[in-house]
Amino acid sequence: MTAPRPHVLIAGCGYVGQRLAARLRERFEVTALVRSNDSAAALERQGLKSIVIDLDRVRAGASIPERLDQEAIVYLAPPPGQGESDLRLDRFLHLAFVPPKTFVYMSTTGVYGDADGGFVDESTPVRPMTDRARRRVSAEEMTRVWCHERRVRRVVLRVPGIYGPGRLPLERLKKSEPVVRIEDAGISNRIHVDDLVMACQAGIDNQEARGVYNVTDGNSISSTEFIDLVARLTGLPPPPRVSMEEAQLTFSPERLSFLNESRRVGNDRMLKHLGVKLRYTDIEAGVRASLPGGA
Ligand SMILES: NC(=O)c1ccc[n+]([C@@H]2O[C@H](COP(=O)([O-])OP(=O)(O)OC[C@H]3O[C@@H](n4cnc5c(N)ncnc54)[C@H](OP(=O)(O)O)[C@@H]3O)[C@@H](O)[C@H]2O)c1
Repeated sequence: MTAPRPHVLIAGCGYVGQRLAARLRERFEVTALVRSNDSAAALERQGLKSIVIDLDRVRAGASIPERLDQEAIVYLAPPPGQGESDLRLDRFLHLAFVPPKTFVYMSTTGVYGDADGGFVDESTPVRPMTDRARRRVSAEEMTRVWCHERRVRRVVLRVPGIYGPGRLPLERLKKSEPVVRIEDAGISNRIHVDDLVMACQAGIDNQEARGVYNVTDGNSISSTEFIDLVARLTGLPPPPRVSMEEAQLTFSPERLSFLNESRRVGNDRMLKHLGVKLRYTDIEAGVRASLPGGA
């Protein structure tokens, strides 16, 4: 008789989670927690076991009816859209379940706020400038306390813009949506989804890994340069330019909040301590691989 395989729960199993599940299933029993019956049905069709819990409407005494020998929980559900605290994560942590060996939490590099184009790494104090970033800081702290009290190894991945197949700004290019001209656009970072999945796996597998890791590909370029690159590689026309002053009048508050922050995020700790070997350090190669039919 073969020994039962260890179990991993992916809480929030969308774009990143489904790719992670595909990799983990070779070695683990994987269960996906999602909000909607439709998502659960789609995952079941892919052969993935799923449970439906809307973390915005958890009933008192609710539990996760799954195996107890959990190797890891990878928490990928985004925080809710309002407030300064991640109540969705709070409700998840109050569900009844046996703590795993490892808790991997996906945060964002937005917690650093604006560094005026300067360098930040994991030793840089957080400086959230939006409620969205404050919810992330609150979530990181919740996981710190929860894991500390239960002696669970905790890995926080601070992630910038995720791109990959199906996650390129092609629609925006087709609609000729304006972007801020390069001289006004700040510096930002990105990660290809395959490399992000590798970082999640390293968080589970590397028993020395703990604490916070920035997960970026090491390229710091503006969002305008990134969309220009996608335009060049797809043959679509580069988007029209506007000044920052015009953008302040016409762009949505959410889009502006990204443009108002500029930083170069260091990834040394991820490379040296988490042990991630990036596949797409060359962003052009990463975009090519993400295009329909790309390899
Ligand atoms: N997009 C970026 O560039 C970026 C950058 C940095 C960090 N992140 C973060 O990375 C994480 C993974 O991103 P992703 O693109 O994979 O997200 P995604 O595709 O939007 O998937 C989110 C998943 O969370 C589930 N979920 C949402 N609300 C829930 C609730 N109330 N109760 C239970 N489950 C809920 C969704 O379930 P349903 O499908 O049933 O709704 C879905 O399975 C997120 O936290 C995201 O904010 C994203």
